Amino acid sequence: MANHGAILFSYAFPTLILTLSFFLCKAIDENRTIHIVYLGSLPDNEVYSPTSHHLGLLQKVVDSNSAANFLTRSYKRSFSGFAANLTDRERERLANMKEVVSVFPSRILHPQTIRSWDFIGFNEKIRRNASVESDTIIGVIDSGIWPESESFKDDGFGPPPKKWKGTCEGGQNFTCNKKLIGARVYSSSSESARDEQGHGTHTASTAAGNTVKDVSFYGLAGGTARGGVPSARIAVYKVCGQDGCPSDAILAAFDDAIADGADIITVSLGSEEASLLQYDPIAIGAFHAMAKGVLTSNSAGNSGPDDSSVSSVAPWILTVAASSTDRRIIDKVVLRNGTTMVGASVNTFKLNGTNFPLIYGKDASSNCSEIEAGSCSDGCLDRGLVKGKVVLCDVTSGVDEAYVSGAVGFILRLDYDDVSEIVPFPTTALANKEHSLIKLYTNSTKDPRVKIQRSEEARDTAAPVVASFSSRGPNSILPEIIKPDISAPGVTILAAFSPIASVTESLQDTRRVKYSILSGTSMSCPHAAGAAAYVKAFHPDWSPAAIKSSLMTTASPMNVSDNSSAAGEFAYGSGHINPVKAIDPGLVYEASKEDYIKLLCSVLDQPDVRLISGDNSTCSTGSDKGSLQDHNYPSLAAVVTPNKSFSLKFNRKVKNVGLANSTYKATIFANSTQVDVKVVPQVLSFKSLNEEKAFDVTVAGKGLPDEVQSHVSASLVWSDGIHSVRSPILIHNKQ
Ligand SMILES: *[C@@H]1O[C@H](CO)[C@@H](O)[C@H](O)[C@H]1NC(C)=O
Ligand SMILES: *[C@@H]1O[C@H](CO)[C@@H](O)[C@H](O)[C@H]1NC(C)=O
Ligand SMILES: *[C@@H]1O[C@H](CO)[C@@H](O)[C@H](O)[C@H]1NC(C)=O
Ligand SMILES: *[C@@H]1O[C@H](CO)[C@@H](O)[C@H](O)[C@H]1NC(C)=O
Ligand SMILES: *[C@@H]1O[C@H](CO)[C@@H](O)[C@H](O)[C@H]1NC(C)=O
Ligand SMILES: *[C@@H]1O[C@H](CO)[C@@H](O)[C@H](O)[C@H]1NC(C)=O
Ligand SMILES: *[C@@H]1O[C@H](CO)[C@@H](O)[C@H](O)[C@H]1NC(C)=O
Ligand SMILES: *[C@@H]1O[C@H](CO)[C@@H](O)[C@H](O)[C@H]1NC(C)=O
Ligand SMILES: *[C@@H]1O[C@H](CO)[C@@H](O)[C@H](O)[C@H]1NC(C)=O
Ligand SMILES: *[C@@H]1O[C@H](CO)[C@@H](O)[C@H](O)[C@H]1NC(C)=O
Ligand SMILES: *[C@@H]1O[C@H](CO)[C@@H](O)[C@H](O)[C@H]1NC(C)=O
Ligand SMILES: *[C@@H]1O[C@H](CO)[C@@H](O)[C@H](O)[C@H]1NC(C)=O
Repeated sequence: MANHGAILFSYAFPTLILTLSFFLCKAIDENRTIHIVYLGSLPDNEVYSPTSHHLGLLQKVVDSNSAANFLTRSYKRSFSGFAANLTDRERERLANMKEVVSVFPSRILHPQTIRSWDFIGFNEKIRRNASVESDTIIGVIDSGIWPESESFKDDGFGPPPKKWKGTCEGGQNFTCNKKLIGARVYSSSSESARDEQGHGTHTASTAAGNTVKDVSFYGLAGGTARGGVPSARIAVYKVCGQDGCPSDAILAAFDDAIADGADIITVSLGSEEASLLQYDPIAIGAFHAMAKGVLTSNSAGNSGPDDSSVSSVAPWILTVAASSTDRRIIDKVVLRNGTTMVGASVNTFKLNGTNFPLIYGKDASSNCSEIEAGSCSDGCLDRGLVKGKVVLCDVTSGVDEAYVSGAVGFILRLDYDDVSEIVPFPTTALANKEHSLIKLYTNSTKDPRVKIQRSEEARDTAAPVVASFSSRGPNSILPEIIKPDISAPGVTILAAFSPIASVTESLQDTRRVKYSILSGTSMSCPHAAGAAAYVKAFHPDWSPAAIKSSLMTTASPMNVSDNSSAAGEFAYGSGHINPVKAIDPGLVYEASKEDYIKLLCSVLDQPDVRLISGDNSTCSTGSDKGSLQDHNYPSLAAVVTPNKSFSLKFNRKVKNVGLANSTYKATIFANSTQVDVKVVPQVLSFKSLNEEKAFDVTVAGKGLPDEVQSHVSASLVWSDGIHSVRSPILIHNKQ
């Protein structure tokens, strides 16, 4: 089955490395890897020549005169830095230079693989401002795009917006149009912006694809496909090739997208774990985007439901979790004794004939251990035993090889059955309980037989629920900033696809489609980007923070959705996205570039903060240093020591963007036995638009129990009778 952005770890043996380096010191020293050297903002200097500056710095550390041979990229349009092939020693020397903020290896990030819009109350009839929307440019940093897709046709589009400064350099046989206005390629393994994987086509069409009627995946998930802002333009930055998406390419894409004039950037990519901000390419790119008024939407990651698994942690990014919609795709298996079990897979195959004999992998192998055989591992199944039968396996992998050995179908086991993925053969995937029942059936019946049906749609009344795979908080880098920020649809999403890509990862699967179903925070991220663009079309002058605030404070509360002991806010942040409400939030929590700089002061040294800000910012010291807790974030969080009573004060201010004359009252929703929350003042009266008012929130409690994930949550709602401006408050014990 398609993986959710799994990463291969390579384990090194320390002793071996020590021994080798003892003998091969010279050779190891010559080992070069691509690093990113981040220098912060571009100097405000007309005569500044970034490339010669970059070469000059490199020249100081490489032994030869051939610095140019090692320089692989220069970032010079929106911020300053470069990528170079460096030895460890060169890396250290660069990192110690005062004009360098950080040096870090370029790592490989991964893609974090329609009715979904209707499901969030965003139907085709909602109010739009098509003329402004068509001046909106969505920058999509992904695996490229399929330019001929109907979702990107330019019928009815005028020329690109005047502010557009990009180009169409999509390679051979790649043409842009008035909808798809730009393309650039950074992936070293491909010369064309054409999408070979389908992922970038899917995300671009979710954010801003045209309205295309009557599409489906072999009759499943049928309906109208459309992006959040169908009139907006798309600019594509291809950073992912077959081997993933290198961070040096991602930074180059940000450098261009910002300078090209993108209004919103969507990045459905990530790594398996969070990095410090100065080593995180998406955080760095998004910071400079924010400084130019551009909001970045980023997938939270697909490493859930473990806690602290969210990899997108920067406060200037809109970090998006993935949740279900009311449409599920299920797949039934009928036992010959008449019992039907419901599995989770997208199975478009119809098994001919009625009942097929069922055999357990363990009973179909002469060569392998019981565990391997039960898992239907490669090479374990005996052709003679499985031919013409349905094979029961204990895992979700291994079907490719087994199919080749003649099996007609598969029953697999899932840890979490909330997500159905496309299967390459007739297959159903059952949750543990049903899977054990089937096992029992194979053993208790002389001639067990089953029929695997074609998938069908079912209504899910519990939706929206955060998907099991969606990465959770707490934020391991800045625990006072709740991440993810928001949840959006990301389960079994139908959108445009690349007609040359396989719909599954199976080599045996020859199906090619123009619209396909994918799940992941990769799919929820462009939903949020589309929603952000929709808000921006109504409020072109709003800051990234204001747009983000409006999406967060109008989000619908969600239910705690899994069995983990973690707070629900760690799964969905402020809640489920509601774009229609977000265009009229009433109040917004603003944050300027200076506010984010102040926040950086709490995690970086002043010289590095100055390089990033590009000005003479000073970090205050001592008691005035400012705490993360006081950053004007639209949600409130703090970390406390277990078993110790606490009294925490959060300073916030809100800006009136609703009605000029308005009075807002604060209401606290809390579990009063554990915390006491006070807001001062409790009433905010505004006389004009854009007026700002400060308030503070004090949260006091007797102490959290000293347990894993102990937390207490509440929420603050400012209401004027028309608008409801909601912020979750989360006090937890986990760094
Ligand atoms: C970086 O240098 C190494 C030699 O240490 C070489 O094998 C590698 O191909 C170089 N990478 C690039 C992208 O030039
Ligand atoms: C769209 O927005 C523009 C600029 O804000 C405004 O002049 C125009 O009246 C709006 N049109 C509609 C239909 O709201
Ligand atoms: C251009 O690409 C399209 C889509 O893959 C293909 O159908 C067409 O034949 C290509 N044209 C040329 C000249 O390569
Ligand atoms: C079922 O039969 C049809 C028509 O004979 C055939 O096209 C199809 O491939 C068969 N399906 C399977 C799963 O064997
Ligand atoms: C069992 O393993 C042997 C050696 O690896 C291999 O030659 C043989 O084909 C295997 N038998 C089956 C039934 O897979
Ligand atoms: C069936 O029972 C046998 C013997 O009790 C056991 O070894 C085997 O694992 C069982 N198979 C299943 C599918 O539970
Ligand atoms: C069929 O077999 C399964 C597994 O043993 C069992 O749970 C179920 O009750 C049986 N159904 C009928 C109708 O006997
Ligand atoms: C939460 O779940 C309960 C019980 O299933 C349900 O009654 C309630 O409506 C749900 N609330 C939301 C916001 O979905
Ligand atoms: C949640 O708990 C229930 C009851 O303990 C259990 O049946 C279910 O499998 C659990 N779900 C997950 C996703 O762990
Ligand atoms: C920083 O301050 C120095 C001394 O006051 C001044 O000369 C310089 O122009 C300032 N730089 C910037 C970027 O503002
Ligand atoms: C706001 O209310 C005051 C007092 O009710 C009134 O005098 C004033 O005209 C109102 N201003 C606006 C902009 O509606
Ligand atoms: C409030 O806290 C108590 C004690 O921890 C807990 O038992 C109860 O379920 C909580 N109630 C709500 C509504 O969260």
